[in-house]
Amino acid sequence: MPEISIPIARPNISERTKARVMDVLGSGFIASGTEVRNFEQAFAGYTGAAEGIATSSGTTALHVALLAAGIGPGDEVITTPFTFIATSNAVLYCGARAVFADVDPDTYNLDAQAVRRAAEEHPGAKAVLVVHLFGLPCDMDAILDVAAEYGLTVIEDCAQAHGASYKGKMVGSIGLLSAFSFYPTKNMTCGEGGMVLTSDKELAERCRLLVNHGSAVRYQHEVLGYNYRMTNIAAVIGSTQLEDLDDFINARSANAAGLTQGLAGLSGVVAPRVPEGCCHAFNQYTIKVPEGRDDLLKHLEREGIGYGLFYPRPSYRQPLYEELGYGDCRCPVAEDLSSQVVSLPVHPLLEKREIDRIIEVVGDWPPNKG
Ligand SMILES: Cc1ncc(COP(=O)(O)O)c(C=O)c1O
Repeated sequence: MPEISIPIARPNISERTKARVMDVLGSGFIASGTEVRNFEQAFAGYTGAAEGIATSSGTTALHVALLAAGIGPGDEVITTPFTFIATSNAVLYCGARAVFADVDPDTYNLDAQAVRRAAEEHPGAKAVLVVHLFGLPCDMDAILDVAAEYGLTVIEDCAQAHGASYKGKMVGSIGLLSAFSFYPTKNMTCGEGGMVLTSDKELAERCRLLVNHGSAVRYQHEVLGYNYRMTNIAAVIGSTQLEDLDDFINARSANAAGLTQGLAGLSGVVAPRVPEGCCHAFNQYTIKVPEGRDDLLKHLEREGIGYGLFYPRPSYRQPLYEELGYGDCRCPVAEDLSSQVVSLPVHPLLEKREIDRIIEVVGDWPPNKG
């Protein structure tokens, strides 16, 4: 395997973060405490939601958000198959079933018309779990309209979309509940961590119980909860990363603009499209390669350019989902995209010469020369 000279992601940990982690370690209060509360308030405040509930990961945040929304055994939740598996797995954790609706071929996000068809075919569906994939907000006006018409609770999976906004509203503050991830490849990190946001105080209290063994008072357990708590160590990393988030997003956007400019006019690849009213947070810069995607991957490998395959198959084509009876699902757009997309490096630590190199390598791929 040739050496990767430009990796797809690189954690960006400041000296300030390292110093604050040492402070927390020195304090002796390393489990969930004041640092977690501070991070919850700061992150909710940044996003415009009233309440934040920190969790151990984005996956556990999704699980808690769905449970708090009342999703339980036998319920149906409409969602996208073109996402990381955690999205629909969280539905399964609740004992519910995922109803997969197809995505839009240009934005890769849930297609509101496909959500409508799914709601018509599944009149009992309780919620729609949207994913702002790669950092691009979904077409929320259209989705909110369908949700209102069919009585669906809207939950946002914002794992890839910290800092993105839709018509001036930050994602994560649009649905009833939302879930974020702070995994190291995300727009900001805690190592591992997540957050549920909501502006409903009662739901927030339910989430707080769920992440802490159903307990608000020590050794008194109201509901079946979990240990999904964040640590103070993770929270202080998150708080300091949050201070840099706007700079990270600006760097990602500038890198994406540079890539888009450099790739314009190449006949073999399609750059990401950003619909009007959307502020894309570019967690990933994902291009479409209608013909010969796997050949481009080999070319990138030979030239040492890191890439990501997000996602190589729709969730319902995963062995687990086939085993669970989802094998007959059909979302043709998601299926086509899974053989056509490739994500190129766009992270904030990229240098100009690295962006130029990526453009040069993609431009040198033979189908782009025709
Ligand atoms: C869309 C999406 N949802 C959920 C998750 C789960 O987050 P985590 O890895 O923090 O559990 C991720 C990230 O990995 C993701 O990309």
